[in-house]
Amino acid sequence: MKKKIVLAYSGGLDTSILLKWIQEKYNAEIITVTLDVGQQSNLLEIEEKAKKMGALKHYSLDMKKKFSEDYIFPAIKANALYQGKYPVSTALSRPLIAEKLVEIAQSNKATAIAHGCTGKGNDQVRIEITIRSLAPELEIIAPVREWRMTRDYEIEFAKKHDIPIPVQPEKPYSIDENLWGRSIECGVLENPNVEPPEHIFNWTRSSNASLNENEYLSINFEFGEPESLDGKRMKPVELIRAANEIAGKYGIGRIDHIEDRLIGIKSREMYECPAATIIIEAHKDLEQLVLTKHELMFKQQVDILWGNLVYNGLWKDPLKNDLDAFINKTQERLCGDVRLKFFKGGYRIVGRSSPYSLYDASLATYNMDTTFDQTLSAGFIQLWGLPTQVANVLLKRIKVKEHV
Ligand code: ARG
Repeated sequence: MKKKIVLAYSGGLDTSILLKWIQEKYNAEIITVTLDVGQQSNLLEIEEKAKKMGALKHYSLDMKKKFSEDYIFPAIKANALYQGKYPVSTALSRPLIAEKLVEIAQSNKATAIAHGCTGKGNDQVRIEITIRSLAPELEIIAPVREWRMTRDYEIEFAKKHDIPIPVQPEKPYSIDENLWGRSIECGVLENPNVEPPEHIFNWTRSSNASLNENEYLSINFEFGEPESLDGKRMKPVELIRAANEIAGKYGIGRIDHIEDRLIGIKSREMYECPAATIIIEAHKDLEQLVLTKHELMFKQQVDILWGNLVYNGLWKDPLKNDLDAFINKTQERLCGDVRLKFFKGGYRIVGRSSPYSLYDASLATYNMDTTFDQTLSAGFIQLWGLPTQVANVLLKRIKVKEHV
């Protein structure tokens, strides 16, 4: 019996080459798998292409609902922004893709999983750690990494095997897309000092497009999850799409990031993440209204840790679940509305409200009818500053030895 290999197949050049290459190299039967996580590609065309190039079977899985509910929503609750900038959109999709590859390998009695990640990126880490966590017995084949295929070699191979080459030479970008964002790499972008050309953007309009000034959008959150836009309840996929649409229209969500990859390389990454940008900002704003100062301080640390774990491929580590437990607890009160106002090229949060708001107007007001007793502050300041005062009095009295 021939060896069976499951291949993560996007329909792009790399994975098309792999499809041919591993059939020949391993004399194997290949099962191709494509997940729909909201990327804008034609799944039927991808299926046809896979079959034409010799795939034994092809799976096309619509994972948009699961991806938004089980991956994007937790990222919103964790305000996930790697290095304060990148909403981990690609990173979120990898564990889901890997999990489906494993399921299909198991149900088809395949012994190996192949992917087209290079040896220089984060995706290899995310996919392989997830596979190993679920099914360590499966062999992992990463030809692009193992055999160090160069771009030129790939193109030559594709020509020889009649594989259509989708990228035109004048736009040599590597693009990854899902509901939560679009990543653009390579070409002129590799020079961090070069301004990204307008043509790399697809989801966001440049800021000088003619737009209505002063458009408002209100995002309603229920238990940390966005539930409706302008009072209209929407399913997660629909809501994220609508948010991408409106924020993208105003040119919001373009991210230019000098990013530290896990494997130690600094790279210049461009993203378009309109929905992620406004939803996370709105979510953070609501937390500021609802959580205590102490909760906020602790959660900020947890959020950073969560984003790092997910970016660095550890979706399956128990620590992520532990952090989720804390995060979910804080989201039990995270209900309310955040109101945004858009203008050309930007937006501002202009209002927020929640039944769980900790904002107490009678404490905060400068009017005479405040319930806050200002005389208490005098004693408080003395005690709060006591250690600092004591230290400074001492330092003035004795001379501290200076270290050179
Ligand atoms: N630097 C981003 C990340 O590691 C984007 C990666 C895009 N991946 C791709 N195969 N084009 O999440």
